[in-house]
Order: sequence, then C-alpha cells, then structure tokens
Amino acid sequence: MRAIDENTITDAAIEQMSSTRNPRLKEIMAAAVRHLHAFAREVELTPEEWLEGIKFLTATGQMCTAYRQEFVLLSDTMGLSSLVNSLHDKRGTEANTKSSLLGPFYRQDSPTFQLGESIAVKAKGPAIGLYGRVTNTAGEGVPNASIEIWQPDEDGDYDLQKHDPKEMDLRGRFFTDAEGRYYLRTIRPLGYMIPMDGPVGDLIRAQGRHGFRPAHIHFLIGAPGYREVVTALYLAGDDHIDSDTVFGVTDSLVVDIRDKNQDSPFNGIPSIRYDFTLAAAKDGHSGRVGADPSQIVASGQNGKAAIKN
Ligand code: BEZ
Ligand code: FE
Repeated sequence: MRAIDENTITDAAIEQMSSTRNPRLKEIMAAAVRHLHAFAREVELTPEEWLEGIKFLTATGQMCTAYRQEFVLLSDTMGLSSLVNSLHDKRGTEANTKSSLLGPFYRQDSPTFQLGESIAVKAKGPAIGLYGRVTNTAGEGVPNASIEIWQPDEDGDYDLQKHDPKEMDLRGRFFTDAEGRYYLRTIRPLGYMIPMDGPVGDLIRAQGRHGFRPAHIHFLIGAPGYREVVTALYLAGDDHIDSDTVFGVTDSLVVDIRDKNQDSPFNGIPSIRYDFTLAAAKDGHSGRVGADPSQIVASGQNGKAAIKN
C-alpha cells in the first residue's frame, strides 16, 4: 500500500534513506529532509516558487569559479556560516578567541613574511601596525604559531577583485617569536559591500539590506596541539559595525586603531594591539567555514561531489 500525502512523504523519504552506510551522512540527510519538508509545509510552497528556488540555486552554482564562491556568500548572508562558527566554538573544551567568518576571499599559499614586514605590496592606504601575542588559555605565549592574515585595501577591495587574481596583495603568513609575539605592518582597511553582481546580491536587494561589511582584517591562526582559529578584527566606529550583512561581528573582536599604544613596537604609525588565545586541540575538526574557492571548485571537478560512503 502506498499512501503518500503531504505528511507521510517525510517518513517515507527518511525510511528509504535508512540504508545509508555512513552514520553521520544518515543523520544529516534525515534531519535535512525533516526540516526541508517542514519548511515547505509551513509556507505552503507552490510549484512556481519551488522552480524559482531551483533557478536561484542553479544561478548560484553557475556563479562559482576558482576565484568566486557564491554558495559561501549565500551561507554567510543567511547567518548559517556564523551559526556553524558558534557551534564550533562551543564544542571546544577551552575557550579560544571567538571565531569569525573565513569569507570567500581566503587564499591558500599566501607569501610568508618576517615579523615587522608589511603585507601591503601594491596598496597605498595609510600605514598601521598590528601586534600582540598568541597565547594558550593559561596566558603562556605560543612560539612559532602560524598567523595568516588577509584584508581589503583602502578602497574596500581585495586583491582578487582589483588585479590579476594571481597577484597577491594584502595577504601573508607570519610566525610568532619565542614568546608568542607577532608584529607586522599593513594599511587601514575600508569596509565594503559584499559581491552584489550575482544571485545573492539580487536576494540582498530584494530584502532591502545594505550589503555592507564593516572594516576588518582576517586571521587564520594555528600551531601544533592547538585548535585552529579563524577570526577577524573589526574596526570600532565603522558605520556598519552593528549591522554586518554576514553577522561576523562580536564585541570581543572589535578593536581601536590607536595613535599611541604604550608598548607599540612601531614608531610614528598608529597601531592595533590584540592578543589571540588558542585552545588545546580536542578533535580533528577544522574551524574553517569556507575554503580557498579554487579548492572547492577542484573538489567538485567532473561533476563529482565529495560524499563519503
Ligand atoms: C569577507 O569578510 O571577506 C566576507 C565574508 C562574507 C561575505 C563576503 C565577504
Ligand atoms: Fe573580509
């Protein structure tokens, strides 16, 4: 007997998926079906609306390249990336510096710099210094921690948006010294509008949202034995500090650029001082909500998705 209606379809679909070998895939797909069906019932989704959704997702996929990740942008603007970050932070046994979005502009293999050097190669904005320590939760410095940093320029553009995407600027990697200290030069970043020329931009406009992110600098920090932290520092006073389109701002990540910081290693330029805390590694889970777009494209080559059996 088959009696598929708007209610029994949910159990029928979950029942048919019950032979899934990977237990985590089974759990995730059953919950996805339950919530997706509940959503369709709640809004009484019509065939036309369903097709609009399919077209929107198709356009989102078609917008993705090795330098552009429209699906990450969609996740970010719906608050899903920020939620996944919070869930990741909650799973740690110790409290690290709060996570914030990796975003669509992270690139692997940025150049390594020596402490004190500037990551601004082409960009001409006002110079600032950035310094502090990377410590464990007991306040002890973590030597040789890797700090990857990337940011937009004085116009609010990333290198990817401005130059030949193969030429990197305003991104680089540093290693902390024996006491866990880091210090580097960069320029003052400007806030920017997220990429609005694709389907996500159309949605943001339809929702009457401004599309801006407040000025910020991204960090990816790691060391052996510690959980990797993906985070960002946000500049106090930015017009959009309380209305970030992708929900990345948390009070503990808001910083001031001060003309004089007492212990600043930089003479004559304003600086930001910030200490990052790494928690002991607990599990092998990555804290990266996102990836270099070229890696995502490569993992889906030949139309194959990375589903593990
Ligand atoms: C970023 O900060 O790079 C970013 C994050 C989410 C969407 C767009 C940009
Ligand atoms: Fe950013």
